[in-house]
Amino acid sequence: MKILVTGGNGFIATNFNRLLLEKNYYVDSLDNLSYASNKVNHSDFLSDDNFTFIHSDIRNDEIYEYIKKNKYTAVINFAAESHVDRSIKNDSEFLSTNINGTHNLITACKRLISERVLKSDFKFIQISTDEVYGSLNNNDNPFTESSILKPSNPYSATKASADLLCLSYYKTYEFPVIVSRCSNNYGPYQHPEKLIPLSISKVKQDLKVPIYGNGQQIRDWIHVDDHCRGILAVLENGVTGQIYNFGGSSELANIDCVKTLIENLKPGKNPKKYVEFVKDRPGHDIRYAIDSSKAFQQLSWEAQNTFSQGIAKTISWYSHNSKWLEDITNNEEYKKWEKTNY
Ligand code: NAD
Ligand code: DAU
Repeated sequence: MKILVTGGNGFIATNFNRLLLEKNYYVDSLDNLSYASNKVNHSDFLSDDNFTFIHSDIRNDEIYEYIKKNKYTAVINFAAESHVDRSIKNDSEFLSTNINGTHNLITACKRLISERVLKSDFKFIQISTDEVYGSLNNNDNPFTESSILKPSNPYSATKASADLLCLSYYKTYEFPVIVSRCSNNYGPYQHPEKLIPLSISKVKQDLKVPIYGNGQQIRDWIHVDDHCRGILAVLENGVTGQIYNFGGSSELANIDCVKTLIENLKPGKNPKKYVEFVKDRPGHDIRYAIDSSKAFQQLSWEAQNTFSQGIAKTISWYSHNSKWLEDITNNEEYKKWEKTNY
């Protein structure tokens, strides 16, 4: 089975490509090599005959030709502008990639289905996010697949648009799409603009972690390997037209998440030394929590990593790959972003 993975040089897709190759899939991994990607992420795979890297953009017309030539069994769309804070500063690339790029991909696939190039078992998997549901209060039940969509920031609004556009194609054209909505991932290869690798990077350098507002916002952390196993289950057993939630069952306030990292990285030291409270993110969602019982019942999926197991593996990966992290944090683009955001 030959799969097209878009956004293949990003955090989650890099981990997912490894899983697909372990399972003997043929993988074409496409990325426009934006600031969020990293060329070294696919360097390990280039010696694998089952892996091909394609430097392209999901908004380009050539997408149709790639899919036509390779007759993929599935297209899995990870490509996105993914950072909430950047979307608050400037959302134009978010609208362009997350909405128009997804539209370009699904229209190309729809056309190739009608031209009978893509087979009847073809699937399009849209990697959406729990952020499309908006924010929960502390006593609310976790989000299910039928919770209303109420995105709070430009990033999540563009993800919700793409998600709904995909589902509308199922209803209107019987386009064979499946949507996954997962909670906050952490693990190897995550860009240090995001909370967990940012904290690891800062604490390793004996610097303070910037915590937005009072640090009481809650995220449901999931190790990226668990998310990837969920997407594989969707690819192999998911039903078209369906939505599947994936969560880590590890709800944690940001301040407690960061304290756990500090305790692991600097045992015996006072965590207070490594945190500073800074201006809050505008429109900051209070809490995300995911009900994954549908994935458990219908895909036999459940998260295998507890937060403490997952975080220990993650800290170990960043310690063994400090150059990967430093190459990003020493980059001029990254330094400029830090100055703009904090
Ligand atoms: P990421 O920012 O690390 O990776 C995104 C990748 O997409 C990058 O390699 C980037 O270069 C590429 N890309 C961006 N625009 C593109 C374009 N126009 N054409 C081709 N490639 C392009 O993001 P991530 O955290 O790995 O997230 C991957 C997907 O999963 C996203 O769709 C995101 O919304 C979704 N998601 C992320 C999380 C999370 O916690 N990180 C949780 C749920 C869902
Ligand atoms: O829930 C899934 C989403 O998780 C994905 O769809 C997004 O692509 C992904 O970026 C992530 O979004 P968040 O905004 O939740 O992740 P981030 O790592 O940016 O922030 C996590 C929490 O930490 C959030 O409450 C904001 C806070 N934070 C973040 C940064 C970068 C801080 O307090 N300080 C910071 O410097």
